[in-house]
Amino acid sequence: MILIIDFGSQYNQLIARRVREHRVFCQVEPPTIGLDAIRSLNPDGIILSGGPSSIYDKNSPRIDKAIFDLGIPILGICYGFQYMADTLGGTVKGSTKREYGFAEMTIRSHDHLFADIGSRTPCWMSHGDTIQKLPRGFKITASTSSTRIAAATQVRKKLFGVQFHPEVAHTPQGKKMLARFLFDICHCKRRWTMKNFADQAIGQIRQAVGDNRVILGLSGGVDSSVTALLIHQAIGKRLTCIFVDNGLLRLNEREKIEKILKRHLDINIRFVSAKRKFLSALTGVTSPEKKRKIIGRVFMDVFEAEAKKIKNAAFLAQGTLYPDIIESRSAFGGPTAVIKSHHNVGGLPKKMKLKLVEPLQYLFKDEVRKLGKTLGLSDDLVWRQPFPGPGLAIRVIGEITSRRLTILRYADDIFLQEIKAAGYYKKLWQSFAVLLPIKSVGVMGDQRTYENILALRAVTSVDAMTADWAKLPHKFLAKVSSRIINEVAGVNRVVYDISSKPPSTIEWE
Ligand code: XMP
Repeated sequence: MILIIDFGSQYNQLIARRVREHRVFCQVEPPTIGLDAIRSLNPDGIILSGGPSSIYDKNSPRIDKAIFDLGIPILGICYGFQYMADTLGGTVKGSTKREYGFAEMTIRSHDHLFADIGSRTPCWMSHGDTIQKLPRGFKITASTSSTRIAAATQVRKKLFGVQFHPEVAHTPQGKKMLARFLFDICHCKRRWTMKNFADQAIGQIRQAVGDNRVILGLSGGVDSSVTALLIHQAIGKRLTCIFVDNGLLRLNEREKIEKILKRHLDINIRFVSAKRKFLSALTGVTSPEKKRKIIGRVFMDVFEAEAKKIKNAAFLAQGTLYPDIIESRSAFGGPTAVIKSHHNVGGLPKKMKLKLVEPLQYLFKDEVRKLGKTLGLSDDLVWRQPFPGPGLAIRVIGEITSRRLTILRYADDIFLQEIKAAGYYKKLWQSFAVLLPIKSVGVMGDQRTYENILALRAVTSVDAMTADWAKLPHKFLAKVSSRIINEVAGVNRVVYDISSKPPSTIEWE
């Protein structure tokens, strides 16, 4: 495996993605990880990531410099390279000016990282400080017109450094360079496949759980379904899933999920109807954050009451993914493994004295989808777009009523039907309708109408951190709009959201 030390770069997850694309397992850890922990991970190589700090900042992140003597190959990227140079006796020149963007790089030495790369290649720079003098034993392997030391190596100690970012697409040969590091320098094997992962995870789950029972909150989304499948393969009927119908689901969603899940997974699933509890708790509430809090609280109550009926349950399974874990840790040694509060069942394990099982905690979303396929999950589950825990409550803007939920459900269903029929569903990160709290005037037949406005939202994204509004064809939008206005009573105007994230968000609330 490859250990990635997180110095806070915005590209950290990308480094991990790139390593995994080469089918090598990697783990991202904060610089506060101790030498003993590093030794017990037994990495084949270490990558020191970039980061926003200058090594001259008082609180810049640092790692025990003894890592440079472990005999493990190390690749320093940007800040990681500067940290390596500074720690080993070189000099780094502080600067307030950033070099940001493309640079043409001249390769001075074609061995190791740059083995099969032409003598000139573009690279992506994003740094303030630069290395002025290398530590003893290092030699320059690449330069650009403004950065003399764009890359360097100390071959005997297996230390490599690059000032640019090989992990971003803007460094076209970056993937090859990383491959050289992984395979020629660290001698990694391409063993990271979802089949291997599943076999290993199933063994680990069996060992961790023993003869106990596990409970899992099933939402019908990819993450919880794949978690269920994996745990079911490990412990069979000792897993019980709980699906809470909160009355905030899409049209016929519960029935659809029930059908798909039962068809594919021969798993114990308890469906709990709690519509009334949720809707009455939400009466008169318009603030998005209040809605979320109420839904979270009612969910906990309903889930806990149901979970208590399952005797001998000692574990709670969650579909936590790796980005949640990475993002919740700080490069500066802050709290580790504080899971983001998006998980509705967040407070339950403590309250119910349950231990957590999180078998997907080292996976990225696309890996979860691959794992789902490997485990035999059907395409309609594997490719489901994400759907927020609070459901339609944050898509009926303002006050939630049964009537407004019904209007939104039918309109949303038409939009999704058309998105699927046109073959856009898999290409979009999310596509949905939002019911606005304002009315507008229209005319239908000879009648003047005064009805609701519905917004359509469709975005492309890789991880929901940023998103672009989807450039759906006008003809397609026209068809959806006219179907919604004609078929859904209560809507007389449809608008399309053309905002990207940032500065907007994907959801409206
Ligand atoms: P935003 O709206 O912040 O959404 O751009 C990013 C992603 O998160 C989803 N989302 C939520 N998921 N509970 C959830 O489980 C929530 O409260 C919540 N709010 C937003 C959203 O659908 C998108 O995929």
